[in-house]
Amino acid sequence: MTVLEKLTSKEAIELENKYGAHNYHPLPVVLSKGEGVFVWDAEDKKYYDFLSAYSAVNQGHCHPKIVDAMINQAKTLTLTSRAFYNDMLGKYEKFATELFGFDKLLPMNTGAEAVETALKLARKWAYEVKGIDENKAEIIVCENNFHGRTTTIISFSNDPVARKNFGPYTKGFIKIEYDNLQELQETLESSNNIAAFLVEPIQGEAGVYVPTEGYLAAAKELCAKHNVLFIADEVQTGIARTGKMLAVNHENVQPDVLILGKALSGGAYPVSAVLANDNIMNVIKPGNHGSTFGGNPIAAAVAIAALEVIAEENLAENAEVLGKIFRSELASFAEENELVKSVRGKGLLNAVLINDTEESSTAWDICMKLRDNGLLAKPTHGNIIRFAPPLVMTKEQLMDCISIIKKTISEFKK
Ligand SMILES: Cc1ncc(COP(=O)(O)O)c(C=O)c1O
Repeated sequence: MTVLEKLTSKEAIELENKYGAHNYHPLPVVLSKGEGVFVWDAEDKKYYDFLSAYSAVNQGHCHPKIVDAMINQAKTLTLTSRAFYNDMLGKYEKFATELFGFDKLLPMNTGAEAVETALKLARKWAYEVKGIDENKAEIIVCENNFHGRTTTIISFSNDPVARKNFGPYTKGFIKIEYDNLQELQETLESSNNIAAFLVEPIQGEAGVYVPTEGYLAAAKELCAKHNVLFIADEVQTGIARTGKMLAVNHENVQPDVLILGKALSGGAYPVSAVLANDNIMNVIKPGNHGSTFGGNPIAAAVAIAALEVIAEENLAENAEVLGKIFRSELASFAEENELVKSVRGKGLLNAVLINDTEESSTAWDICMKLRDNGLLAKPTHGNIIRFAPPLVMTKEQLMDCISIIKKTISEFKK
């Protein structure tokens, strides 16, 4: 078998099952090509992509500008490591810090790495700037969070599948209810050792939970009052997904520490970043943190192009407009269809709640039927389906997708 040999879907699935670790449970569809909002399987069947690689492909599959930037850079210089300077990283850091309004950026590759970076940054800041006693710093996190799957991150997850048999766990985290300002306030008042509050502006993996309007702004204010860093994990919600460049922009909040990943590269390459101002970022000194690939020239070129595409194609505005249509169409459908309980979300990050138990297979079965009908989506939980298409979708395409979704769900009986 050569890398160029074309496999059937069945063959590709068999290979993954036999030779790959079983750390995912994919929908049985094998994709071999993508363009804009569409993907094609190994037998050339065309689908609308309604997952966008968990909101990484916001700019659409194989966006020509991003792919060109990647190819040109790949032909020139791919990797130097940070042992030397490269002539792309500084350009990207200037571009991104100016765009998001921070002094400095720390480049990494994946979302989980960027979250780890933010946690280390917050702890070091707590000891060296805030003056917390060594090893006493605590970080507040939210119940049902999802920030990745490294050992420290799963230490404060409450997903048993992600945690069980991976202990012992990292200490130093306090878990509070999401969208609960009272509990945040009480926790902040309960200790002088709190370094930071880490929060997803919308809890994506948990099932697209949108907090009460004003929650993020009030939480930021409470943190500021207690000299605690407000860390926004915008790995999934960022880069125009929710109808603004960042989800915190809906409440005019500027986080102390911003975590980005996924669509920072338009899905072309693993690129993540942590942004903060000098008074925080300057605690990081040579040798404290790093990654061989973090800040490589391809990542820098790709990220600049990916961010430019968002502005040039008005993708935040498009997400806002199409998201409203999606929710209003699905909300009226829910009134006449008993299987659809409700729809929620912001911009083009939405979830449809299926009127069945968490343990039921209904949401999975609906996703299988959607696949047969030419649209790919995946449940986040037993009874919640996330719908997050690339933001380059047109209104006509969205209306076509809405009719596929309605028709498919109508084939099921409550
Ligand atoms: C909010 C959030 N943070 C972090 C991550 C982890 O990103 P990665 O899978 O690139 O490590 C995710 C992934 O879904 C996420 O949704």
